[in-house]
Amino acid sequence: MNYKIIVNKDRMYDKKDFSNIKLVKITNDVKEECLLEKRTLKAFLDIKRDLEKMGIFISFCSGYRSVEEQEKLIDEFTSIYGSAYVKEYVAKPKTSEHHTGLCFDIDLIIDNKIVADNDELFANLDIFEKIISILPNYGLILRYPKGKEEITGYSYEPWHYRYVGKSTAKIITDNNLTLEEYDKLYNKSGILLVNKPKGLTSRDVVNEIGKIFDTKKVGHNGTLDPMAEGLLVITINKATKVNELLTSTDKEYIAEVKVGIETDTLDLEGNIVKMSEKRASKEMLVDLFNEFPREYLQEVPKYSAIKVDGKKLYEYARSNEKVDLPKRKVILKELELLDNKEDYFKFRCVVSKGTYIRSLIKDMGEYLDIPCTMSSLKRTRQGKFKLDNAINLEDITINSNLITISNALDIDKREIKDKDYKKIINGASINNSYNTIDKVLFIKDNKEIAIYQNINNKLKCFKMLNETN
Ligand code: DAL
Ligand code: ZN
Repeated sequence: MNYKIIVNKDRMYDKKDFSNIKLVKITNDVKEECLLEKRTLKAFLDIKRDLEKMGIFISFCSGYRSVEEQEKLIDEFTSIYGSAYVKEYVAKPKTSEHHTGLCFDIDLIIDNKIVADNDELFANLDIFEKIISILPNYGLILRYPKGKEEITGYSYEPWHYRYVGKSTAKIITDNNLTLEEYDKLYNKSGILLVNKPKGLTSRDVVNEIGKIFDTKKVGHNGTLDPMAEGLLVITINKATKVNELLTSTDKEYIAEVKVGIETDTLDLEGNIVKMSEKRASKEMLVDLFNEFPREYLQEVPKYSAIKVDGKKLYEYARSNEKVDLPKRKVILKELELLDNKEDYFKFRCVVSKGTYIRSLIKDMGEYLDIPCTMSSLKRTRQGKFKLDNAINLEDITINSNLITISNALDIDKREIKDKDYKKIINGASINNSYNTIDKVLFIKDNKEIAIYQNINNKLKCFKMLNETN
C-alpha cells in the first residue's frame, strides 16, 4: 500500500491505485459502521487511547467513503447547510481524499456529549491544537491546515487527519508542508551519484539516502566495501527497477597496494597470512603492468558475499570450513601504474563487471612473487558515470540532482505510438514497429512508462515504470 498517495481535485481517485488496500470495520460512537485502512485505524485507536490519558476524548466520525457515499453526503449537507458550505468543506465525488481510506474525521467528546457541529468544534480550537501537536507520533498529519487553503483547495479542517507513516508525517510537520507540497518535493525517481566516504558500508549509504528521500525504494549497484571510497551509483524509487541494467558496465578504480604482506581478507583489515622482506623495484612493476594478462580466470576472495551451495563465502571463511573458491573470467581493459615507493604502489585500472580488485592485487603479488595486499581503493567511474559528478554524502538533500532513467540508460528510447499506449501501460506484448534490436525505453509525454525487450521480433515487457511510487 502506498501511504503517500494523493487524491484531490487535480488527481482523481483511481481504483487500481487502491487494489492493495485493506479496509477494516469500525463502529463509531453513534453506532455507524465505518471503514478505514488497517494502519490508519491503528493510528486512530492509538492516538485516541493516548489522548484519553491527557483528558481529551475523541470520537470517530467518518473514514472511507465510496464515490456514491460522497454523492449522498453532498446532497445531505447541501440541504442542511447550503451549497456555499459544501463547496468549502466537501470534495466532489472522485476527488475526495475519503475514497483512499487513509483519512478520518473526528468529533470531540466534551462532558460526555459528542460535539460534531463545525461552529462548536471551532470553539474548541485549544483542544485541537493539543491533538494536532502529537499527530506525527502516530504517522498522522493535518490534511487541510490553516494558511494552505489555496494549495489544498479546502478550508481549515482541524478534525481531518491523514495517515502517511511516521517518517513522512515528521517531514511534513517539521517543514510545515501540505501533502501536495510534500508530493511535489519527494515524489521523484532517478539515479544519484554518491561519493561514498571510507568507513561506511554501501548499505549504510542506501539507508542514509532512504532517509533523505523518505523512501524504502533505494538500491545501489556495484558494492563498495567499507574501506573503499568513491563512486556509488544509487537508484531511487522507480529507478530501482533498472538497477540491473546499470551494473553490467565497466568500472574504473584507483588502488593502492602494500607490498610484502598478504592478509586473509586481501585488504588491510584482515590478518596477515604471508610476509616477505622482498620489495618490487620499478622495473619489476613496469614489467608487471606490461605483461600481466588482460583476461584471465580470477578466483573470488574467500571474504566475499558470493554464494556457494546457498551459503556466503565469508560464512565458510569465518567458520574455517573448506570450500572451493569459484573462478570468474575477468577482463582488464586498462592497467596503468601511477606511483611507487619501497613497499607501495598505486595504479589505475578499468575492469569488467565482477572483477575483484583485492583479488587482482593478490594475483599481481603472485606474478611478482611477493605477497601484496590492497591498502586503499577508490572507484572513479562506473559505465558513463564519473566520480567527478558525484555528491558527497553530507551534501545530499532532497533537491540534489537526479539523473533520469532515460539519460542513464544507453538503450533505445521511443515515444509510444497511440495505437500501442493501452497495451504498453498494461504490460502487454506488441509488434516491433519501433525497429528496436534489444531493449527500448518507452516514453509518453516525457514520462518513462516501461522498458520492453525484443524477443523474436515481438516486443515484450521487461520492466514497468509507470506505477506511482
Ligand atoms: N472534507 C474533505 C475535503 C472531503 O470531503 O474530502
Ligand atoms: Zn474529512
